[in-house]
Amino acid sequence: MKGNIVTIPGDGIGPEIVREACKILEQIGKVYGHTFIYKEVLMGGCSIDAYGVPLTEEALAAAKQSDAVLLGAVGGAVGNSGWYDLKPHLRPEAGLLAIRKGLNLFANIRPAYLYQELADACPLKREITEGGFDIVIMRELTGGLYFGKRHTERVDGIRQATDTLVYSEHEIRRIAIKAFAIAMKRKKQVISVDKANVLDSSRLWRQVVEEVAKDYPEVSLTHMLVDNCAMQLVMNPGQFDVILTENMFGDILSDEASMITGSIGMLPSASLNETKFGMYEPSHGSAPDIEGKDLANPIAAILSAAMMLRYSFDLDREADAIEAAVRQVLAKGYRTVDIMSEGCKKIGTAQMGNLIASQI
Ligand code: IPM
Ligand code: MG
Repeated sequence: MKGNIVTIPGDGIGPEIVREACKILEQIGKVYGHTFIYKEVLMGGCSIDAYGVPLTEEALAAAKQSDAVLLGAVGGAVGNSGWYDLKPHLRPEAGLLAIRKGLNLFANIRPAYLYQELADACPLKREITEGGFDIVIMRELTGGLYFGKRHTERVDGIRQATDTLVYSEHEIRRIAIKAFAIAMKRKKQVISVDKANVLDSSRLWRQVVEEVAKDYPEVSLTHMLVDNCAMQLVMNPGQFDVILTENMFGDILSDEASMITGSIGMLPSASLNETKFGMYEPSHGSAPDIEGKDLANPIAAILSAAMMLRYSFDLDREADAIEAAVRQVLAKGYRTVDIMSEGCKKIGTAQMGNLIASQI
């Protein structure tokens, strides 16, 4: 198989972790006889420095022409970096939002899985995580507050800011269908998360999700309010299979879910449209404080590459091989600093990549 991949290393630790993910893809190519052709483009702060904008038309066009995009992370330290003196639509994160919208990547899949090897890094009590957990968060990614009209004005001399939360039934339906389809391949349980006791957009969300559920009689559907969900995630994470939710709730809940797996450095994600095309990125940020120090955990990026093989290239066996290799390296006691615990061997970013590659 031949795959055309656009890589977007981005800012901070992005380039270091994307390098390791590509190392793994190269190893997969060697062992299983595939060729991956890479084209690197800039996005985020590095694109601002080079071109004055966080995402150029050329970069977006290159992404559109590829089979899949592998992204590191974008952004710098707010308050420390000049990128944040720019107008909001010219800052690094605006590039990320623009590429999500430009590629119509409305479905963001964020798995949160507790590796038993990392149970010690999990901040929850042992009795809560004993049975483990395996959650998929299906986050709507191109609607809601992130893309509604916003402005700041003065009303009678008082500063006032407005953001708007808009969802059409079409936007809700297509993400709900993805969530139910994924649930069919798992434990057949969807928990749809909203704030229907307050928000109109959530009330519509509930209605449309219920309509979609009729086409999936085997899947059980429950609704949960977002504040309750935040609590349930730390009280009883084992109860969740697929969490379906809107953009902002999904942003917040996925950080929470990642933390209870031990480290946000472990969590991959896939952002998909209606086709096989997807953008794959770790759920974590650019961590500028540890940039270039060989401290970053490349596992989220490596597992994102595995998701790419699974969803965009239909290479399930190869994706399984990457996931198994990660588990083996963890079982042997190797840890980057973010998941380090007593008795384990602390290693850096590049060595983690090498060890995982050597298991494939
Ligand atoms: C994420 C990030 C982004 C988001 C930021 C960087 C805009 O937090 O992917 O979760 O809020 O979507
Ligand atoms: Mg986030």
